[in-house]
Amino acid sequence: MAQVSLKNVSKAYKGGVKVVNSVNLGIENKEFLVLVGPSGCGKSTTLRIIAGLEEASEGDVYIADKKVNDVPAKDRDVAMVFQTYALYPHMSAFENMSFGLRLRKYPKSEITRRVNEAADVLGIRHLLGRRPAELSGGERQRVAVGRAIVRKPLVFLFDEPLSNLDAKLRVQMRTEIHKLHIRLQTTMIYVTHDQVEAMTMGDRIAVMKDGLIHQIDTPMNIYDHPKNKFVASFIGSPPMNFMDGRIIKKDSKLYFDDGSRIKVKIVEEMFPKLMPYLDGEITFGIRAEDIYDKLFVSVAPPENVVRVHCEVFEPMGSEVYLYLNSGKHTFIARVGAHDRPQINQDIDLVFDMSKVHFFDKNTEETII
Ligand SMILES: Nc1ncnc2c1ncn2[C@@H]1O[C@H](COP(=O)(O)OP(=O)(O)OP(=O)(O)O)[C@@H](O)[C@H]1O
Ligand SMILES: [Mg+2]
Repeated sequence: MAQVSLKNVSKAYKGGVKVVNSVNLGIENKEFLVLVGPSGCGKSTTLRIIAGLEEASEGDVYIADKKVNDVPAKDRDVAMVFQTYALYPHMSAFENMSFGLRLRKYPKSEITRRVNEAADVLGIRHLLGRRPAELSGGERQRVAVGRAIVRKPLVFLFDEPLSNLDAKLRVQMRTEIHKLHIRLQTTMIYVTHDQVEAMTMGDRIAVMKDGLIHQIDTPMNIYDHPKNKFVASFIGSPPMNFMDGRIIKKDSKLYFDDGSRIKVKIVEEMFPKLMPYLDGEITFGIRAEDIYDKLFVSVAPPENVVRVHCEVFEPMGSEVYLYLNSGKHTFIARVGAHDRPQINQDIDLVFDMSKVHFFDKNTEETII
């Protein structure tokens, strides 16, 4: 059973601020946890603290219920895969993959068996005799993953392992690692700044910024119920649209008004949480897929229709992105593949008001 837990873990470099700030994380046995956040937020540092490559300034790290603060990296039974692969250039793929086992004096037959087994899983058996310079980026990455697999560690740690691959190969390797997790049933912690990788791979996602974990939950819970404006903006592509404006009351109904062309009726279920903000400033959030072109909506409540300027549209193949301007805010709608509105003209859009979010403008915490 390989749970990993971090209790109040902080890290500060000499004279600096905390780059990891009181992190509490519990990773279940066999779980695939993705640690995601913008560059410099402390992801690699957190992972290196788990691996034992970096010492925490404060707090405790547990692997399989054992406190490992004082256990050296080589005895932690974790295997890490790095963005740079870190393969030995003078060794063949076989030698690279078997290096850790040879150091640990495993019998030759066992080493061969494990390397061949891992190579089969990764589809690189035919490449075992080649050196890294004779392999493509994707193949090198497989060797690096293979080197981790042969160790049969309690926990796998991945630090942006796909960053150096081209877009297509990234998608392919993403699926491969996902499948590998299903097959190996081992605890994995995966660091990335790519929210698509986080959404598609993680059993759960931990969203990090400035050394702090902002939210830990399943991908869909984070997508549907972001804890604050940062999480709402970071998870999802295109990012959620935000508009600052006011909550106003008219004929005992509440509306969001952006002070220009957007005035939409708020659904009644949201009234209680929004009443404290009446007439005050608030941040409104709506995802691109919750905005429709009125032409394609059979029944559109007039209070949910906004007329805005369509500046440009981008056909993506399976969908179209509309870039819109309300006079005060620019925002994006994601509409059907065959929608071809007139550009530089006003168009009518429908906001799905049951799906919208509101954030406190000062604290940026989610209200709804
Ligand atoms: N040895 C060091 N001395 C001082 N500051 C450091 C050191 N190593 C990292 N940092 C700082 O700690 C912060 C977190 O670094 P970390 O490598 O964990 O970020 P990250 O989230 O992995 O970013 P990226 O996505 O760019 O890899 C950064 O601001 C970085 O400049
Ligand atoms: Mg990093």
